[in-house]
Order: sequence, then C-alpha cells, then structure tokens
Amino acid sequence: MTIKQSPNAANLDPIEKASRDEVTALQLDRLKWSIHHTYDNVAPYREKCVAKGVHPDDLKSLSDLSKFPFMTKLDLRDHYPFGLFAVPRNKVARLHASSGTTGKSVVVGYTTNDLNNWADLIARSLRAAGVMAGEMVHNAYGYGMFTGGLGAHYGIERAGCTVVPMSGGQTEKQVQQIMDFKPDAIMVTPSYSLVIAEEFERQGIKPEDISLKVGIFGAEPWGEGMRSEIEAKLGIDAIDIYGLTEVMGPGVASECIESKDGPVIWEDHFYPEIIDPDTGEVLPDGSHGELVFTSLTKEAFPVIRYRTRDLTRLLEPTSRSFRRIGKITGRSDDMLIVRGVNVFPSQIEEQILRDKRLAAIYQIHLSRDGHLDTVEVHCELQREATDAVGVEEIQQITKELQHHIKTVIGISTRVKVFPANSLQRTETGKARRVMDNRPKQI
Ligand code: DLL
Repeated sequence: MTIKQSPNAANLDPIEKASRDEVTALQLDRLKWSIHHTYDNVAPYREKCVAKGVHPDDLKSLSDLSKFPFMTKLDLRDHYPFGLFAVPRNKVARLHASSGTTGKSVVVGYTTNDLNNWADLIARSLRAAGVMAGEMVHNAYGYGMFTGGLGAHYGIERAGCTVVPMSGGQTEKQVQQIMDFKPDAIMVTPSYSLVIAEEFERQGIKPEDISLKVGIFGAEPWGEGMRSEIEAKLGIDAIDIYGLTEVMGPGVASECIESKDGPVIWEDHFYPEIIDPDTGEVLPDGSHGELVFTSLTKEAFPVIRYRTRDLTRLLEPTSRSFRRIGKITGRSDDMLIVRGVNVFPSQIEEQILRDKRLAAIYQIHLSRDGHLDTVEVHCELQREATDAVGVEEIQQITKELQHHIKTVIGISTRVKVFPANSLQRTETGKARRVMDNRPKQI
C-alpha cells in the first residue's frame, strides 16, 4: 500500500522515521533503565521479582521481559494511594486518578520530566493528526482527575497551538464557542462529539460552515461506523487516540491522518506485548489477546508489564517506524465504559449495599439513546423490607441510590427497585449482572 505523505513530514521526531534496529536498540537501553529504576525504588514490585526469582540484570534482550512479573490494577489498589511511586512524594509534580474496582480510585503521579514527555507525545499525536503549529484546538475532554483534559491541554500548548480549555458538558456553549473562535481541531470523546454534532444540526449549521477540519477521539471504544458518521456530520477527519491513566493518559498511541489505520504506539516510550489473558503467555504480533505495556521513560510511576485488560492485536509499522494497535474489541475484565467514564459493576454494588434494605442482587442494563449510553440499575429489596416498605419509601431508596452513584462514580442512572426475588437468576442462582444492549462497535 502506498501511503500519502504526512502533512507534518518535515516536523517528525527523528525516531518516528528511524530503522526498526534503531528503535529496538533504544527500547532495550531504556527498558534496562526502567526495570532497574522500578526494582530499586518500588518495594512491592521488587518483592514480586524476588518471589519469581528474576533480577533486572537478567534482562539481556527485549524478549527477556517475558520473565518478569505483571503489574495489575489490583497492585494499584493494594498500594493505594502512593505505594507504587518510584520517587519521593515531593518530586511528584501532579497526580491523576481513574476508577478502581472498588470505592477507591487508582492514583498515578508524574515528575516534571514525565509531564514534559507527556506533553511531547500529545504534541506528536497532534502532528500525526495533521494539526499544524499555530492552529487552534478546542479541548472538550474533561478537566480534573481524568487524564483527558489536562493531558491534552499541555500537549496542545507544546505543539505551538492555541488551546481552548472548554472541558466537557454545556453543549450549546461548545457549539457557540466553536462558531465564534473557529478552531481548526477538536479533542473530545467520540460519543460526545456526536452530541455536539446534533446541536449543530439543531441550530441549522451545516458541516461546511464549521471551521473544524480534524478531530482526535478516544477514551472509549469506537468503530469505523462511528468514524464515518462523525466525519460526515462535522465535515472533518476523525483520528483515534488511545491511552490509559496507569500507563500515562491519552497519547500512548495515536493515529496518523495519512493512513488512518490504527493508533501508532509511541514505542520509544512504551513497550507493548500481547498476551493470552488466561495463561499470561506472550503471543506473536498479529494475534488477538490482551495488551500489556511497560513504560520506558517514566520516573514517578513506572509500570512493568501492566495488564491493560484491553483486547486487541499488534499491527506492523506503516506510516511510522512503530507498531500500531488494532481496534479495541473488548476487555478481559468486567469494566464498562459509560459515556467515557470507566465503571466496574462492583462499584455499583458497593453503592447498593450501603442501603441495608437492598439485597446484593442487581442488574445493570446498558443501552444507547441516540448517541449516548443510558444505564438502568435494577435492584431488589431484602425479603423483610419487601413487606415493610411502602411506595414513598421505595421512591426515597431510588432517589438516594441514583444520587450516590452519580456523586461517587460519576454517571447518571435510572434506578428501579423491585420486591425480593424478582430478578431472574441463572442456574447457579446468581443474577446475570450486566446486560449490555448497546450496538457493537465495528
Ligand atoms: O481514557 C485516557 C484517554 C483520554 C485516552 C482521552 C484517549 C483520550 P482511562 O480513563 O484510564 O484513560 O481509561 C482507559 O479507556 O484501557 C480503554 O479501555 C479505553 N480507551 C481509551 N482510549 C481508547 C480508544 C483514558 N481510542 C481505558 N479506543 C482503556 C478504545 C479506549 N478504547
């Protein structure tokens, strides 16, 4: 396949065009440093290595990485909040967080160097998307503990662009600001971009009257169908950006506009592996499995073989010297992404069980209303409560649970409370907890 030239061909970092040998040599150097740094400074990881009988000096080639133990979300939970940091707290310039499987979120930290590298990689992702220095970027990723808003923000500045720090929500204002300021690019979740597109439509504004020429979308799964829809409705090129809090945030991988063939992993900073999620065995490139990342340059929160739980495959290099990831086809755990927010069923369960009148039996029904995910939580009263509570009390239980889920987890839900033994059980007696009726992204 011949690939068009990047609009930013003259502005690429040399390593983006280096030979594979140069890339792997750099990776090996950096991997040795990262493993030593983690082993020396992160006691829980050192203990895992000792238990497995491996030492950083055993790493002689990239393939030796497979001898080292994995890190998982559980490790982050067990050492909450700062137990896996590799530098003293006073060297941490910023914290971010994302959902954990229980009430406590997972917390990550960045040194000034880490923040610099992150801004560089977002700037590189913007160049890959064809954004030029001097252009204006509307940033509608949420600001706050979520890595999307601030992560994108500093990268947009680093790319020499004007940043509009809009954050999420206030759809009419998003539209007004885009019409008034005339940005060249937008960064936002794919589902929210369609809500913005609908507001343009409602106001009778046509795609050709919108200044945007490119959008950089991520934080949730989306497929080629959604890409075509966004491109048609906003009159732009839609580019895929991937990342996760534990590994850095947005910009671990990002797509090139000239090929639009999957996010390119910025392999000079992150070393990818695909494993069999059941056995942990490393699979050859091209095989479908769970994506695992090792950070090569991170100081504050290095990760060695972090299991992302995202299912996908590694694809050969095309527009850059780095490998790409295919579409994320699912997860090897039960995490749901609802309107860009990560949600574990256990977090919802925790909120249900705060109310002693409710049983531990519940169902989460997901569907799509227009472009947005909707969530219904069905739960059951305890047997005694079924006889004791009246209509008003049920309304109060419903309202309280909706409120707790909204304030603690951050998603709006519709709660329905049923009498004891109403929800269907499986043969094992357990209720099927998640009914995901959203259209599959392909
Ligand atoms: O979602 C970071 C991010 C922000 C990425 C903005 C892109 C843009 P978390 O909240 O930790 O971090 O969620 C990470 O979201 O493991 C995937 O399951 C999913 N995800 C992120 N990007 C994509 C994508 C941010 N482009 C989790 N396609 C990841 C599919 C994605 N899934």
